[in-house]
Amino acid sequence: MKNFYVTTPIYYVNDAPHIGHSYTTVLADILTRFHKLIGGQAFFLTGTDEHGQKVQQAAFKRQVDPQDHVNEYNLRFKNLWKKMNIEYDYFIRTTDEDHKKFVAECLQKLWDKGEIYAKEYEGWYSVGEERFFSEDELVEGKDPISGRPVEWIKEKNYFFKMGQYQENLIAHIEENPEWILPDFRKNEILGFLKQSLNDLCISRPKARLNWGIPLPFDSEYVTYVWFDALINYVSAVRKRTYPNGDAIWPASYHLIGKDILTTHCVYWPTMLMALEIPLPEHVLAHGWWLTGGSKMSKSSGTGIDPMTYMQDYGVDAFRYFLAREMVVGQDCTFSDDAFKRRINSDLANDLGNVLNRVHRLVLTNFNGKLPHAFKMDAPANELKALAIQVRESVLSGIVQVKLSQIIEDIMSLVRGINRYLEIKAPWKLAKDETATEELSTVLLVAAEAVRLSLCFLSPVIPTKAVEGLLMLGTSCEGKDDLTWGKFQGGELFGEGNPLFPRIEVEKEVPQKKEPKVQNKPLLAADVASAMDLRCAKIIEVNDHPDAESLYVLKVDAGEKEHRTVCSGLKKSYTASELQDRSVLLFANLKPAPLRGVLSMGMLLAGDGEDGKAVLVTPPAEAVIGSRAFFKGLSASDPRELKIKDFDKITLYVKDKIVYYDEKPLEFNDKPVSCNVSNQTAIH
Ligand code: MSP
Repeated sequence: MKNFYVTTPIYYVNDAPHIGHSYTTVLADILTRFHKLIGGQAFFLTGTDEHGQKVQQAAFKRQVDPQDHVNEYNLRFKNLWKKMNIEYDYFIRTTDEDHKKFVAECLQKLWDKGEIYAKEYEGWYSVGEERFFSEDELVEGKDPISGRPVEWIKEKNYFFKMGQYQENLIAHIEENPEWILPDFRKNEILGFLKQSLNDLCISRPKARLNWGIPLPFDSEYVTYVWFDALINYVSAVRKRTYPNGDAIWPASYHLIGKDILTTHCVYWPTMLMALEIPLPEHVLAHGWWLTGGSKMSKSSGTGIDPMTYMQDYGVDAFRYFLAREMVVGQDCTFSDDAFKRRINSDLANDLGNVLNRVHRLVLTNFNGKLPHAFKMDAPANELKALAIQVRESVLSGIVQVKLSQIIEDIMSLVRGINRYLEIKAPWKLAKDETATEELSTVLLVAAEAVRLSLCFLSPVIPTKAVEGLLMLGTSCEGKDDLTWGKFQGGELFGEGNPLFPRIEVEKEVPQKKEPKVQNKPLLAADVASAMDLRCAKIIEVNDHPDAESLYVLKVDAGEKEHRTVCSGLKKSYTASELQDRSVLLFANLKPAPLRGVLSMGMLLAGDGEDGKAVLVTPPAEAVIGSRAFFKGLSASDPRELKIKDFDKITLYVKDKIVYYDEKPLEFNDKPVSCNVSNQTAIH
């Protein structure tokens, strides 16, 4: 079995840990436990990112020395991981002496090899994002990510010759199609690499930022925080080995959130190429946890406090929810309702039922001693076959990090046990003196299947699985316990209480209010993901009662009621040209009154000749009401967007096709078109 080295991002110590941090760490923990359980060698690294402007500012705000600040704040993560039963193999801090030494060695090596050079540089600098932005990237003159002001800065800096690795990087990604997962993230990076790749500024003058690792070849500068941070993945393990002496690097999986894809899939591999260190095997980007459609942010302090759910419903219920609910790669909404529903149905009902039924029946009918099996009938054999099949899918699912799928497979076994019990009705057999042998077989078979389910679930719900197994008088020690046939009869059951008590859910009034999230400005890429761009048909055209240039249109967007949309198309189209025309409706734009008529959305168009608008047209195959997506961009649930959100992104036309960021807009692989010249903006 292959060795397994998994990493989480190292977390900034400027804020309290939130669900985003918890998710990646739980994911890594579960994968590591699975690998160890099936007899593999695994190493799990997490840690904290303790240098850079964000941390310096956080310390400054608290009026404490940065070192004292990080010493205190890294404990927030360590303590949380302890509470959450996270068994990492090593916790790295970028202020560790050993890490600083290795970063300095790497820099020196690159400097000696001529991979780093000094250059006078000027540009727009964002303190929040700690990087320069080009004029084009700014939105209304501000940092496009945080929306904060930028400063024009001119200074000498050191640059890593990242650009020269562009071709090698593209070749690596193309030759290893599973290097970046999921697939659409790979396409995102390949899209990014279509433009020429710039060199990377890897220094910050001490005058501006002194909380960092000094450059070994110029003491007036410290290292750019990302250059320092990414190296943690190697520095933490370079002197360590697996129990059998194998080297730990390269990583099997870097688990990351989608917002740090470029740093991990462009900066990091090119740094490794220059350092002549092998590349990691996979970078896997998960989506965001959302509440009510918005991201739980890392620095806005709006993150859900995982502790509240953990404290109220237990660590294992919380771990289970995170792992089961999010499909790795997709965004996922955390809501009070979803949490309670999931825990009640999967854990309190399905798992709780099978365990309690089997436990109680053995206690009351056999004095707590598991009986022997006699004759396996068809339903017993079916359940056994299901258990064997689930084992196979769990083993292959782990390798592919399909965690929510693995859990669903295990729960299908649990439901299979419940079905088996319903068919055999052992509670009835218990009343029939002639059926003791049949009852014995049913209980042994069901107990074995419950035992296996709990073993498979043990990486996800470690404490509760141990408790459940103790009720069955057993434990899960390793690979051998994952095969059918451990229970032979004669085992003594233990005491037991329900593992997951049912959570009371009040019908109308929710018990617990959904955590409030302030609406944070969206990032540009999120706007494109969240736009509900629909195929719609104009079914009525009227003049606006109060504005000469506007039509008031009735539009069929596949909803119960037709929408009213005001549109400034009068100069460009006659009413009959618009009647029955198929159009692209921006359907989740915040409704706005236009001269007294409420417009529910906007029709997208480009600028044609003579200043006339040219409507964007869905392909003939598009169904009314269906949504168009940008190829290669993960879509999120549509949330209401404001016009100023839309202003953050540029939709443009290339070869008559509508694009965002090199990604064509499509309905089922069929592009959306607009008959205007190249590079015309769509609005
Ligand atoms: N320090 C850098 C990582 C350096 S790795 C060499 C960093 N830290 S962070 O603390 O800001 O974020 C850590 C991770 O949390 C990122 O992967 C980010 O995607 C993730 N999340 C932040 N908010 C999130 C959600 N709402 N949902 C899921 N994950 C999110 O970036």
